[in-house]
Amino acid sequence: MGIRIRKLSYALGAQIEGLDLTRPIGESEFGEVHRAFLEHGVLLLRGQRVDREQHIAFSRHFGELDRHDSLPRDRDPDHPELLMVTNRERTDGQPSNSRYTGQLWHSDMSFTLVPSLGSLLRAVEVPPVGGDTMFANMTAAYDALSPGMKRLIDGLHGVHQPERKGADQAPQWAEQNRRLNPPVAQPVVRVHPETGRRALYIGEKVRRFESMTEEESQPIIRYLLQHATRPQFLYRHQWQRDDILVWDNRCTMHIALGDYEQALERHMERTTVLGTPSGHVAVDAEVA
Ligand code: OGA
Ligand code: MN
Repeated sequence: MGIRIRKLSYALGAQIEGLDLTRPIGESEFGEVHRAFLEHGVLLLRGQRVDREQHIAFSRHFGELDRHDSLPRDRDPDHPELLMVTNRERTDGQPSNSRYTGQLWHSDMSFTLVPSLGSLLRAVEVPPVGGDTMFANMTAAYDALSPGMKRLIDGLHGVHQPERKGADQAPQWAEQNRRLNPPVAQPVVRVHPETGRRALYIGEKVRRFESMTEEESQPIIRYLLQHATRPQFLYRHQWQRDDILVWDNRCTMHIALGDYEQALERHMERTTVLGTPSGHVAVDAEVA
């Protein structure tokens, strides 16, 4: 009885041992998991041979699940709560739509008005080497900024674009993605609703600050990204099949590394926990 918690890196992340997700989890047991989630930002559960329903059932402990209406093409038709992050060929022989998912620093669903609270990614098939995922502790990154920089960014909003990386953008999908997801402005500093701590909320989907030009914004955005991705703020996860990784999207960001043999299969399935409403549709023009 009882779970064990082991830190995975200095900056963030912890492994939870002694939990079997094929069985229902009691409320007090989940309480321990939830405390660890708030403390460590990323949780690893290893060797979880769960099916899709069990993955969804465990995820529901964290809150209501997203049905992925803003990413309809990537969800499982039978389980809208599950997003496929995969390089498996589609049934029509076309390459997968989601093979480049997450290959830039981001927090899930930041480009929507209900950015995600957290995500639970399950490794179904992973290549023997490469394809790691990196995480950054955005609370620690914020805390380490100078008082002057904190003053400068406090009150700024970043404009988040939904676009993914280049090759993922077949024209018809790019068009649908833009229609479903107009650019959304999110505070650059968010207060975590459960811990009350301030965290940087920025990523490579942020093109500019609201009411500032791209030219003006970019040097600061680049600085904040470079700052937040210094090694002392990071955890790098090397996947094993049957890993489930849970992360807090309100105070961490992550990136999928595309460094693996593309002929080998990498198939992940994700549930996304809905967060609290945040941000607003961005003011269109680059206001002078
Ligand atoms: C995601 C994501 C990272 C990965 O599922 O949200 O960014 O390594 N995935 O697959
Ligand atoms: Mn992601």
